[in-house]
Amino acid sequence: MDVALERIRKSYGGTTVLHEVSLTLRGGRVHGLVGENGAGKSTLARILCGAVPAESGRIIVDGVPAVLRSPRDALRHGIALVTQEGAIVPALSVADNVFLGVRRRGLRDRAGDRRRFADLARRAGIALDPAARAGDLPLVHRQQVEILRALARDARLIALDEPTALLPALAAARLLRLCRDLAERDGLAIVLISHRLEEVLDACDTVTVLRDGRHVSTAPAAELTPRDLLRAMVGRPVDVLYPEPVPVPDDAPVVLAVRGLARGSAVRGVGLEVRAGEIVGLAGLVGSGRTETLRLVFGADRPDAGEVTIMGRRAGGRSPSRAMALGAALVPESRAEQGLVLVRSTAENLALASLPARRRFGFVRRGAERRAVDEAAGTLGIRGAGLGRPAWTLSGGNQQRSVFGKWLVRSPRVLLVDEPTRGVDVAAKVHIHRLIADLAARGVAVLMASSEVEEVLGLAHRVLVMRDGRVAGEFPRGASAADVLASAGLR
Ligand SMILES: Nc1ncnc2c1ncn2[C@@H]1O[C@H](COP(=O)(O)OP(=O)(O)OP(=O)(O)O)[C@@H](O)[C@H]1O
Ligand SMILES: [Mg+2]
Repeated sequence: MDVALERIRKSYGGTTVLHEVSLTLRGGRVHGLVGENGAGKSTLARILCGAVPAESGRIIVDGVPAVLRSPRDALRHGIALVTQEGAIVPALSVADNVFLGVRRRGLRDRAGDRRRFADLARRAGIALDPAARAGDLPLVHRQQVEILRALARDARLIALDEPTALLPALAAARLLRLCRDLAERDGLAIVLISHRLEEVLDACDTVTVLRDGRHVSTAPAAELTPRDLLRAMVGRPVDVLYPEPVPVPDDAPVVLAVRGLARGSAVRGVGLEVRAGEIVGLAGLVGSGRTETLRLVFGADRPDAGEVTIMGRRAGGRSPSRAMALGAALVPESRAEQGLVLVRSTAENLALASLPARRRFGFVRRGAERRAVDEAAGTLGIRGAGLGRPAWTLSGGNQQRSVFGKWLVRSPRVLLVDEPTRGVDVAAKVHIHRLIADLAARGVAVLMASSEVEEVLGLAHRVLVMRDGRVAGEFPRGASAADVLASAGLR
């Protein structure tokens, strides 16, 4: 199947976010779509899949103009979208989610469903319990439910919006393999949106670059390097070097000290210290206890045992407000669930975190607040025009930057960061790395968890590797990624 997007145009409140973008998607091919945060990738995918209307332009399916007023219309033409958030019905089983809307007259045929589910799952190489409640699944598996659902409806084109952003390396590789198989073996057209440029070049036949809502280039992946893509995305040559960390002075005090921290089976006795100006990285596989450790340190969860002190004063385990009063800040892993109040404006979100610090006798000092918000937005590169709009209208990557900005406004003494650059584009990633390095250079103690081994090794002074809820190893900056992964339990 061939789908041509012709001169697609879209604007929101007077701002054009897609300027007459054209591209052709072909069966049997994986087509990559890359661009900086806010470039218009998700918007284009939503238009393609009938979720939002284009202002002008046409979508031609196999030579015939199609009217896609809803995702249902798009599915009727064989087009499906798989997003990170996942459009599953939490209360239903996996199988019911997969077959939702494809059953004739709503009749349930359990034996038939089981057989068809097994067929689909085998074809896709996905192992899921059809009877599990979809809402209980981790994000990774919800995405697989969506892929199965698209296949169950005989989708001929599947667009995936940042499908690997949340996945550990192995699962990501498996998903990309599936994309290739669906294209090569089954002849589907696959659209892959991603910020991981190497993976895009690996998995795709063709790559399109968008910049500020404009089509910049479309070329065969074989002729491109990550550097080429980056230059096209940003409009100028860029270097992706990690900032050289400022050495921690010998007499730098221990700011954060953690001893014997434990909670259930997730965290089983973690001890660590972070000195002023030091960046300590937490590496480890998904489920190794990194996120839970950060939450316990911040007081977001109650530990069963252990002690957290900030500048020698007890902090963790009671409540975040205690840790915050001592100068701790947590940039959480999930921006939508924990980081931002999506219905409030970005400016309000940035100001929210700073409220306790800037409130005096119950009065918010408006001038000071506005200055702090402007400064954080400037540092983060969130453009001013958008600050008054609700946070949910920001592109995914700009939401991530805002979560970060929320805490910058507070000038923390201890910064706890979980997956700081997940879902942000390469330029923003460099930006956030520099922010973290600058904060450390100013004396902030940073504890940072990341699934990207290169990121922790590039940015941190020291890397602690977590495995099964414990610190299983320690590596200096510049250690080999293979050693760290081995210590984390990968092979
Ligand atoms: N509902 C909306 N209302 C107003 N503006 C919107 C809305 N949806 C998207 N936008 C704006 O459209 C632009 C493009 O956003 P889009 O989500 O398509 O970017 P993206 O390329 O997917 O970025 P990211 O890499 O961060 O996911 C952004 O400036 C965004 O703020
Ligand atoms: Mg997006």
